[in-house]
Amino acid sequence: MPDLPLVLMTHTLPPDWLASLEGKCWILKGPVDATVMEPTLYEYLPEAQALFTLLTIPIGEKEISQAPNLRVVSNMAVGVDNIDISACTRRGIPVGNTPGVLTEGTADLTMALLLAAARGLPQASLDAREGRWKTWSPTGWLGMDLNGATLGIVGMGKIGRAVAKRAAGFGMRLLFCDPQAPEDPIAEKRSFEDVLRESDFISLHLPLNAETRHLMDQKAFESMKPEAILVNASRGPVVDTDALYQTLRDKRIAGAALDVTDPEPLPPDHPLYKLPNCLIVPHIGSATRNTRRRMAELACENLLAGLQGKRLPNCVNPEVYA
Ligand code: DGY
Repeated sequence: MPDLPLVLMTHTLPPDWLASLEGKCWILKGPVDATVMEPTLYEYLPEAQALFTLLTIPIGEKEISQAPNLRVVSNMAVGVDNIDISACTRRGIPVGNTPGVLTEGTADLTMALLLAAARGLPQASLDAREGRWKTWSPTGWLGMDLNGATLGIVGMGKIGRAVAKRAAGFGMRLLFCDPQAPEDPIAEKRSFEDVLRESDFISLHLPLNAETRHLMDQKAFESMKPEAILVNASRGPVVDTDALYQTLRDKRIAGAALDVTDPEPLPPDHPLYKLPNCLIVPHIGSATRNTRRRMAELACENLLAGLQGKRLPNCVNPEVYA
């Protein structure tokens, strides 16, 4: 093995996304569609100096304890709920993420989900394909207007604000809840309960942690308007899947559009797929060529900084530098 630091990369990525690593480290890669860390990568944990991970691969105490030479964990995602941050911090290992570069792409997808659910696009498209489009129907395929409707944004970070900007352009009234966020010039700050009660559309933009897990539970669904639509492009477990299923099945809200699910991927025989009022796409919020490349490049920057003993440009546990 050349005298370069060993990087374990949980997946194979396009080489041009990783150009900045060339000649600076020795990379062992997992397969392109890895769903767990490859056993062969595990064997190299004792020598690894860096881990380059995707959001689907859990990195916990077990992996960290087997990697005594680890100097950095770089996650190619803004969310880091797959990583045991405390375990890394205890070992003084900085963890990098990729904020900012996926804000606009994720906000675009949120609007696409919102529009598709509001106008029933999946069903309308299926009906056209399958011969149920008999005429221009004055009463067929009736959806909801965005203009004048209230959008409640739960979590007003970068992505929440980017969604607010877009929704304002559609003439929506905007509410948000986020105890940490300052007032906003285009959206009214309200309590979570007010947002649930008053919104025609609710869009979730929260990190997953102990406080946000199952935030959208049975009680929360009961507070929503019966004609409301839920959009989730954050993390699946923010929503209690069973409660959502029952709510949609019993038509206690109008619909849901999900980029993320719990579990993820949602198995093909899951009952949620059978509900016509539930639109599900496979976690594609950041899936534009440009965004994914920029996420990879940012993850490489974090990784290189960590290997060189420099502060990561985007570090989620800066206390390791204290
Ligand atoms: C992230 O970066 O956390 C997103 O979920 C990727 O789409």
